[in-house]
Amino acid sequence: MRERLAQREPDPRHAPKELIAAELAAARDRSLAYTDLEDDLLVRQHSPLMSPLVWDLAHVGNYEELWVLREAGGITPLRPEIDDIYDAFKHPRKNRPALPLLGPAEARRYISGVRGRVLDVLDAVDLEDPDPLRAGGFVFGLVVQHEHQHDETMLATLQLSREPGLIRDGELPPGRVPSAVGAGAPSREVFVPSGPFTMGTDTLPWAYDNERPAHLVNLPGYWLDRWPVSNGDYAAFVADGGYGDRRWWRPEGWEWVSAKGIHAPLFWTRNGDGWWRDRFGRMEPVPSDEPVQHVSWYEADAYARWAGKRLPTEAEWEKACGGRTFPWGDAEPRADQANLGHRAARPAPVGAYPAGAGPYGAEQLIGDVWEWTSSWFQPYPGFRSFPYAEYSEVFFGETYRVLRGGSWATHPTAARTTFRNWDYPIRRQIFAGFRCARGAR
Ligand SMILES: [Fe+2]
Repeated sequence: MRERLAQREPDPRHAPKELIAAELAAARDRSLAYTDLEDDLLVRQHSPLMSPLVWDLAHVGNYEELWVLREAGGITPLRPEIDDIYDAFKHPRKNRPALPLLGPAEARRYISGVRGRVLDVLDAVDLEDPDPLRAGGFVFGLVVQHEHQHDETMLATLQLSREPGLIRDGELPPGRVPSAVGAGAPSREVFVPSGPFTMGTDTLPWAYDNERPAHLVNLPGYWLDRWPVSNGDYAAFVADGGYGDRRWWRPEGWEWVSAKGIHAPLFWTRNGDGWWRDRFGRMEPVPSDEPVQHVSWYEADAYARWAGKRLPTEAEWEKACGGRTFPWGDAEPRADQANLGHRAARPAPVGAYPAGAGPYGAEQLIGDVWEWTSSWFQPYPGFRSFPYAEYSEVFFGETYRVLRGGSWATHPTAARTTFRNWDYPIRRQIFAGFRCARGAR
């Protein structure tokens, strides 16, 4: 099938299919790279918060089978007997190691068999078909993004494993350290004036149901941090006794840090006067100029209160992006605009991406770290569940907080200014940090 695509006469009408095939291949290369490990590392559960990696691997194939082959392609189920095992709703992560999972070799065979048929469906599909699953290749976008989201989850699992030497690292641009206060230094906050903006999207073909529909939101003016909060900033909160001072915490957050004895971000260890961190099995000093990551919503919320600020709402976060697909416009991210797609295994220093700034001057909104917002994960007015309620709808309410912007581990296909992620306010294994906001006074 890939050969057939390659041999085709160049025809611009076929470009989307070639693009989709390339995106499918890129996601699969990534999943296979993250699971190119000893079987023992794949079947072991590294944390009760996470699945064994071999579960994620077969699950992405099973998801493709359900959505592309059965729903969009009308193909008879290949392995209906394993559907239950790979249904994320039936088995919480902590229980997955006890399931009769496919072994690593069998999982690789299964997902590659599914993929071959997926490419046949792609070859035959009419992207102009008004069926919402097929129109614009939505179902392929669904599985590509899904696979990349699992790839990011696999990275979180590998980080939790603390096994050294498994993860590729790389170079990132240098930061512009904001401590250089003085003439010419950028201010640490940007101002977003009052007025309406369009939140969400009706037009991005691969956007999820929870990003729709586009709707007008009117906000008063506010200040937003130009950059995410850095490790250095956060260490000052720790040094000031922030974790031991009840004033800064929501009651539930205070209860949680007290009960768990939490006194620093996950993976930080005190070393003499400073902090070290475990990053994919390597111990290293915590770099003060990188955005802080592995903090929960409760920690982000407490820091903001200590700093005399608050977390932005997700509307405030999105408005700072100026109503574009990316803060800089609608063009795909360049390497000098955002740290996405695992170029390196860490966030870039604060100030590394002036070329990625939004229209009001906020930087690093996309990539580096997911940013906690103050908002609960709720539907937009006029929300309609598609293609299934378990994608978004069952999570709406006052249980999950919204995160925005994607991290260094997020692939560009799953990063855009309208993309909404959500998690429990106690979660710290995700690559999440935050920035602060405050009202105009
Ligand atoms: Fe999934």
